[in-house]
Amino acid sequence: MEISKVGVAGAGLMGHGIAQVSAQAGYDVVLCEIDQGCLDEGLGKIDKQLSRSVEKGKMEQEQADEVKGRIHGTLDQQDLAECNLVIEAITEELEKKREFFGQIDEIVGDDAIFASNTSSLPVIELATATGRAERFLGLHFFNPAQVMPLVEAIRAITTTDEAFDAALEYGRALKKTVIPTSDKAGFIVNRLLVPYMLDAIRAYEEGVASVDNIDAAMRGGAAHPMGPFTLLDFVGLDTTKFIAEIMYTEFREKRFAPPPTLNKLVAAGWYGKKSGKGFYDYSGDQPTPVDLKV
Ligand code: 3HC
Repeated sequence: MEISKVGVAGAGLMGHGIAQVSAQAGYDVVLCEIDQGCLDEGLGKIDKQLSRSVEKGKMEQEQADEVKGRIHGTLDQQDLAECNLVIEAITEELEKKREFFGQIDEIVGDDAIFASNTSSLPVIELATATGRAERFLGLHFFNPAQVMPLVEAIRAITTTDEAFDAALEYGRALKKTVIPTSDKAGFIVNRLLVPYMLDAIRAYEEGVASVDNIDAAMRGGAAHPMGPFTLLDFVGLDTTKFIAEIMYTEFREKRFAPPPTLNKLVAAGWYGKKSGKGFYDYSGDQPTPVDLKV
């Protein structure tokens, strides 16, 4: 099964990065959005990253122009019709994803493979929104997709060897490390990473240390590039809460339950870096810890 044209649905935090790395690997890319503002923002970020690569001497201007030329931004789902692989990176909500896949199932050629960049939803529950559950799998990228080397490839119980192998080949063509996992909420990384981040919140709630000191401790003591609160803000607190709830629903284990402080920040609309405020305030030159009065 040859993949030459890749559709990416959603030009947000993950989608724009997946579109960029796919185009850099030589694939023609259709980047599909429902909102012109989000599409422009995603394409703008790709432009910026490519310009930065040229400035740093990591890419020739000509190459950057070619990459840009391979990405077709659109608001029209019909433009996905000719894609051999469509990767969905829209909001982490089961019903929205099922609705999207149901719609494009009518548009995209029958042989094409569908993949979800879901970070935790059971892939089989998305696959059954289409008539192609055997050509459906998860491809989970990590933020920033341009930098993080891992892609988890999630095999649903319905996925055929042929479809899975074609997706593995696509991931390797992106020069990513592709690790196969079974279809259990959170897969490998989030199953381990999310309880760790939730535990950091609980440690803070219990008065173990301040937000910035917990971050500094994990950077200095465990060589993490970001402490847990910086990472929470980076991933997005709304996204983390969604993932935690999905895993809690699947496993009914306390370690996956979102702590009260996370719920409060999300209720306040403090989603982290993307909204300008989360555990840190991003309005100044440097992020400063927010006094959460916990
Ligand atoms: N897009 C593209 N490139 C980016 C980028 C972005 N958003 N952010 C950083 N980069 C590039 C920089 O351009 C730079 O490239 P260069 O080496 O060619 O110069 C390189 O990454 C390093 O960036 P910086 O020097 O600016 O900063 P750092 O060295 O601090 O690295 C980081 C930034 C790569 C984000 C690093 O802090 C890191 O690895 N953080 C942890 C990220 C992480 O854990 N991600 C996974 C989150 S979990 C997830 O995504 C799963 C989901 O389901 C929740």
